Amino acid sequence: MYKDKKVVITYGTFDLFHKGHYNILKRAKELGDYLIVGVTGEAYDAERGKLSVRDSLVKRIENVKNSGFADEIIVEEYLGQKIQHIIQYNVDVLVVGSDWKGKFDHMRKYCEVVYLERTKDISSTMLREEGDIYKLGIVTDSAEDDDMVIESKYVSGIHVESVYSDEEQLAKEFCNDFELDSYYTDYSKFLESVEIIYINTVKDKKYHLIKEALENDKVVISSPVVADSIEKIEELYKFAADNKKILIECVPTFYLQAYMQLMWNAKGQQIGDLICVKNSIRLGELVGIDKDDIDAHLYFTTLFAKQIVGDNAVFDKKQVGQGDNLHILYTGENGECIYSCELGNSPHIKSDMKIIGTEGTINVPANWWETGYFELKRNDDSNIRRHSCNYSGNGMRYVLVSVLSKIKENKHEDMRLTPEEVLYAAKIVKGF
Ligand code: CTP
Repeated sequence: MYKDKKVVITYGTFDLFHKGHYNILKRAKELGDYLIVGVTGEAYDAERGKLSVRDSLVKRIENVKNSGFADEIIVEEYLGQKIQHIIQYNVDVLVVGSDWKGKFDHMRKYCEVVYLERTKDISSTMLREEGDIYKLGIVTDSAEDDDMVIESKYVSGIHVESVYSDEEQLAKEFCNDFELDSYYTDYSKFLESVEIIYINTVKDKKYHLIKEALENDKVVISSPVVADSIEKIEELYKFAADNKKILIECVPTFYLQAYMQLMWNAKGQQIGDLICVKNSIRLGELVGIDKDDIDAHLYFTTLFAKQIVGDNAVFDKKQVGQGDNLHILYTGENGECIYSCELGNSPHIKSDMKIIGTEGTINVPANWWETGYFELKRNDDSNIRRHSCNYSGNGMRYVLVSVLSKIKENKHEDMRLTPEEVLYAAKIVKGF
């Protein structure tokens, strides 16, 4: 196919396709007969911490195609794949922008490397800064609650604008300490100043705050759980669904790339049928959950159990195990244990998570809920398959990225954490 042709390859994210992209593709094409363009995959961008990409992979590919210069478009999915492509496609020239000058010299043993001057005064980053910025407001009970402020800095297209608290001194202090634009003690005025709110208050205050925000068309991200009774939780989610509003619980684990991969591997027959899942959680190590809030820990582990074990599990009992540890068990139809989670304070409780199937096992190192890496071992294969995907910060940034893409794609449902799962877990925790 490529025989007798001079093959050129170049790579990029090509987000918010601009004149600099057009120029480099045009000049790259002029260097040969056949141009291959590698567009970075979403998982790869996420892994290298580039969470700010606005356009979907499909759109970025479409834009490269529309430039008319690419003879073939491929997806770059991991570090080190360039060498593989160069060999596979018999590439003669690798074209790189001058911003990478010298960085690809080691590829010269495989092909010619040409650095092309970047087009001046334009970049995706510049365009992102000019584009829509969503204003986020924080509702909090604590002047030190800076997690969301810090995490939002890693996500482009979002800016923490203001804070609301019913205590003026607290709101003022928060606003000054984290250099926000304004603070409010009047909730309606606060809502007018933002498009997205993050609520992290005690449970019994949340219902009214969330309801009013949804009624005023705001996107709501709430620390778990969204209200202090099952009826109110149900009502809020129903209101959001009926009115096509976004209501999301900020539980970062469910928004991680590696978590998606883990679920796919655990449930997609990669280890056969699921036999059991064993894990543990040391109290106080979950993001945003207080050490003494046992309910919140139970809620988290139940949500996870529901996602991994599905509907077949029946919540069985809690036992007081060794010391003060709680032991949460879910059993199958015949009483067999299919999910076991130990919760406690002592350091020894920290352990890897094991997911055992009829045909293999997955091991996720502690802390498994911040999963960035796991190993899969099939019974019929002596090799271990390793999956890794970076985890940065405290994970809230991944929730923000998901919220922004929902806003842009005009979707209100949340597939990562559904209202059914939330209600299921809330009911079980209440059962204690
Ligand atoms: N490029 C260019 N001139 C520009 C911007 C990008 O020649 N003004 C080139 C890059 O050097 C690279 C390719 O276009 O070879 C794809 O770059 P990409 O990283 O996708 O674009 P940027 O605009 O640099 O993106 P960002 O601001 O997100 O880094």
